[in-house]
Amino acid sequence: MAEKTIYDLSRPGRTGVSLPACDVPEQPVDQLLPDWALRRRQPELPELAEIDVIRHFVQLSTLNYHVDKGLYPLGSCTMKHNPKINEAVARWPGFGLLHPHAPEQAVQGALGLMHQLAGDLEQISGMTRVSLQPAAGAQGELAGMLMVRAYHQQQGNPRGKVIIPDNAHGTNPASLAIAGFEPVVLKSGEDGLLDLERLGKLVDEDVAAMMVTNPSTLGMFEKDLPKAARMLHEAGALLYMDGANLNALLGRARPGDLGVDVMHFNLHKTFSTPHGGGGPGAGPVGVGEKLEPFLPAPTVERGEDGSYFLDYKRPDAIGRLHGFLGNFGVLVRAWLYIRMHGAEGLKRVSELAVLNANYIRHRLSGVYELPYDGDCLHECVFSGDRQKALGVRTLDIAKRLLDYGFHAPTIYFPLIVHEALMIEPTETESLQALDEFCEAMIAIAAEAEQDPQKVTSAPLTTPVGRMNEGKAARELNVCCRVALAGD
Ligand SMILES: Cc1ncc(COP(=O)(O)O)c(C=O)c1O
Repeated sequence: MAEKTIYDLSRPGRTGVSLPACDVPEQPVDQLLPDWALRRRQPELPELAEIDVIRHFVQLSTLNYHVDKGLYPLGSCTMKHNPKINEAVARWPGFGLLHPHAPEQAVQGALGLMHQLAGDLEQISGMTRVSLQPAAGAQGELAGMLMVRAYHQQQGNPRGKVIIPDNAHGTNPASLAIAGFEPVVLKSGEDGLLDLERLGKLVDEDVAAMMVTNPSTLGMFEKDLPKAARMLHEAGALLYMDGANLNALLGRARPGDLGVDVMHFNLHKTFSTPHGGGGPGAGPVGVGEKLEPFLPAPTVERGEDGSYFLDYKRPDAIGRLHGFLGNFGVLVRAWLYIRMHGAEGLKRVSELAVLNANYIRHRLSGVYELPYDGDCLHECVFSGDRQKALGVRTLDIAKRLLDYGFHAPTIYFPLIVHEALMIEPTETESLQALDEFCEAMIAIAAEAEQDPQKVTSAPLTTPVGRMNEGKAARELNVCCRVALAGD
């Protein structure tokens, strides 16, 4: 049954507001506006009481699945609970109503917050300097790669290749290609980790950098990263680390200490901000000493008198990556999240993220295939090959999970796992929630054996059934179409 639109609910004369009496002399509208600007017919606005509007939108908000509704184990997306205090503070007028053109003296608090946040990220990561400008993880990657390019150009040898392990996040090869490099794929070892022998054969004078996702898309820690860094540095190349999965490392390992020259953070993943569906994010980029001169301009600095200012005089900077100073609201949320947790709290975040993923890995390991069976960090990747042999694909399992009240994991990624099911429970889920999720996964595996058609025809209980997702993404149409009188 099609959902009712707000126009279907409209009844003539119903209203949800009572406006105060007009306290200025009323004038006919045709005396206020020129003829060409006048409407030819009344707008067809729905007429509704407040209760109708509230119920309609509350009902709509529950049709889709979201993180406030239940466990959202979408691997690589870190869909954890976003503390509501973040939202409240980001809306404080002193933050939410700042004008982007306000002079520096008038926004010292905001600049101070940014300066502190960059400093916190430097401490957390062990990198020398951080720029908060990039608006997303992928833009942070691009910033990093542009700095790598600028560095090699300044060294007088503009190298052309970047090594990319086959377990890297999908945005990594795209970013290096946009920055003008040619990707060279490094096949992972049997254990799913960096293969140093193969790496040794790829590193040469034309390699500008290697771009590693750590923990990788298999949810595993790249234990040989320091050795890889040494090999690259000896050949004059740099090491980029995609640090979007940093919730697994907080307080445990710092990329700067592992030999990383440049990295990005995903504030919206690691430090909690509602994200998904292309919502605003922030992908700060951190660098070691070699790349510091190339950081995007302006940087937020603190003068000797203690006041904050923007430094545009950075002759080697790669330029500006974002209008004004980035997605400021996201920065406020991340700053608050870090400050409220403190060092010990952040350590606990990584502990729980890793514990929760390993709990799921253990509970489901006899039921779904585990192609790489070492301990994982923040996420675990199963293969649906066993179920596929019964005629049930990973896509079907993902759809059936919706009937059990859970969002699906990431599926068919990473590409190096057949029928991949990439599960990231995050640190904010309770044991009870993890158990309920595991029981649903176990029940679906049993259905695949006993009643496969139930799984292949899922979802059976959602507002819409199985859709052509490719078409939905490419021909997105979110308009509310209303037939206007006279149309
Ligand atoms: C490991 C990893 N790298 C990069 C990205 C890209 O980040 P964004 O979506 O903010 O561009 C993501 C996104 O989830 C990610 O998980």
